[in-house]
Amino acid sequence: MYSDKVMDHFTNPRNVGEIADADGIGEVGNARCGDIMKLWIKVDNDVITDIKFKTFGCGAAIATSSIITEMAMGKTVSEAEGITNQQVAEELHGLPAVKMHCSNLAAEALGAAIQDYRTKAASNSAS
Ligand code: FES
Repeated sequence: MYSDKVMDHFTNPRNVGEIADADGIGEVGNARCGDIMKLWIKVDNDVITDIKFKTFGCGAAIATSSIITEMAMGKTVSEAEGITNQQVAEELHGLPAVKMHCSNLAAEALGAAIQDYRTKAASNSAS
């Protein structure tokens, strides 16, 4: 029911952990199941140079978290912001229909981290 790529990212997730001096942090919860994802980004010259996550959730949530870190790394903040949960699922060669909501968690956490980065960057430049 899961693609080999989902199983690979579930059993061997990439970029797990935290970034102590992150430029943006996003934390989101999935209302349907109670799972939680937290994601840290480091931004240099508008490019995401490091990204880490911790997900307390199902296998699909862990796999989508892992793949989105690979998709966002090296992208500009605006490019990364455009990553949709549909693209995340496609990158994993598909998710079962009942697990599509899990891919929202990853896209929303990345969006929240970017929003946090923008808020911090705006307040830094204002001071
Ligand atoms: Fe909770 Fe998948 S069941 S994110």
